[in-house]
Amino acid sequence: MKTKAAILWTIGAARPYADSRPLTVEEVDIDGPGPGEVLLAIRAAGLCHSDLSAIDGVRPRERTPLPIILGHEAVGEVLETGAGVDDLAPGDRVVTLFVPSCGQCAMCLEGRPALCVTAPQYSGAGTLASGAIRFRHGGRPVHHYVGVAAFAEMTVMMRRSLVKIDADVPTDAAALIGCAVLTGAGAVFNTARLRPGESVAVVGLGGVGLSALMGARAAGASDIVAIDVSEPKLALARELGATFAVSASDPECVAKVRAATGGGVHFAFEMAGAAQAMEIAYQVTRRGGTTIIGSIPASDVRLPVGHASVVAEERTIKGSYFGSSVPVRDVPRYARMVRDGRLPVGRIADRRVGLGDLNAAFDALAEGRTMRQILVPGL
Ligand SMILES: NC(=O)c1ccc[n+]([C@@H]2O[C@H](COP(=O)([O-])OP(=O)(O)OC[C@H]3O[C@@H](n4cnc5c(N)ncnc54)[C@H](O)[C@@H]3O)[C@@H](O)[C@H]2O)c1
Ligand SMILES: [Zn+2]
Ligand SMILES: [Zn+2]
Repeated sequence: MKTKAAILWTIGAARPYADSRPLTVEEVDIDGPGPGEVLLAIRAAGLCHSDLSAIDGVRPRERTPLPIILGHEAVGEVLETGAGVDDLAPGDRVVTLFVPSCGQCAMCLEGRPALCVTAPQYSGAGTLASGAIRFRHGGRPVHHYVGVAAFAEMTVMMRRSLVKIDADVPTDAAALIGCAVLTGAGAVFNTARLRPGESVAVVGLGGVGLSALMGARAAGASDIVAIDVSEPKLALARELGATFAVSASDPECVAKVRAATGGGVHFAFEMAGAAQAMEIAYQVTRRGGTTIIGSIPASDVRLPVGHASVVAEERTIKGSYFGSSVPVRDVPRYARMVRDGRLPVGRIADRRVGLGDLNAAFDALAEGRTMRQILVPGL
């Protein structure tokens, strides 16, 4: 079969990408689904900063084998199922997962599939968890980004990388469940286990941070502090329920947050990927507070925190990968919350783009000019 896809050919191209064009739209060969695999049509896919990190090289180059089809946050429609897949049928709507957890390793058995030991091996090799590569261009294999490869009209994925949702969840919002919502809201519900009345600050208001903010609101947080360098993002955060919003560029940022929250927040979420953002996310917590880190900067970045303050003030610093999610449990819950308006993530989907617009769209993401762009492959 043939399908259209955006292929990434080089890492670290000069910006603007609209001129250097690291991604090109190509007709590629796609194999039908093998055992345990599913062929799906991508209906909508979000553009996440982690895709940008593969393009600009913040993600280690050796973990992005070229050429590769990026995209790891999407909603699709099942077209065909491979041997042994009997619980999905053509026409089903599915959310994609970027951690193809195995269900059998030590971490999966502990109920922590986000930390599956086997998943990073396949993601690093650019294959499906079956070991297969299902795309070719001019006879040359084209890799799958984290087992998803959503920047395409059709893709092949493992059954275990998919969760079925109801058909009535709006498409743009459904596209954001697989990363922004699982990561952002999951950091609040699962990693922090936020209790009603506790206070929150979110540093970095992209798709992930704004999803954390919406999760905090749904979970009954008292104070919800929004922090970013971008005024439009602070304004949207206020509309989405932030009780206090302040620029990270304001030299009084930390002092203002501490004053507004009676000495700091219970939980701060760092979702920006900048050292300065991490410093703020640490300093705005109260004594005994917890800083949860969700961003993924370059691998040589170290945490800027004072050892003594962690001890003397009993602070906690916790990483949150994939929102500490159990996707088969969480995706249907979030899909309902999205549909009922309790997680109004459709509000952050601010722009639809086609495959041919991706280079310019990643320029916009790199420059912080967008909230969450949605790829509609047929556009
Ligand atoms: N933990 C995970 O499993 C996981 C999953 C997906 C994405 N991520 C990571 O989460 C991060 C956020 O992703 P996104 O798609 O929401 O990114 P994004 O680029 O849409 O948003 C980042 C936000 O941070 C803001 N920002 C930049 N510098 C700042 C500073 N110094 N202080 C405050 N705000 C600042 C930007 O203005 C922007 O609004 C990225 O690092 C991404 O790689 C992690
Ligand atoms: Zn992502
Ligand atoms: Zn596992």
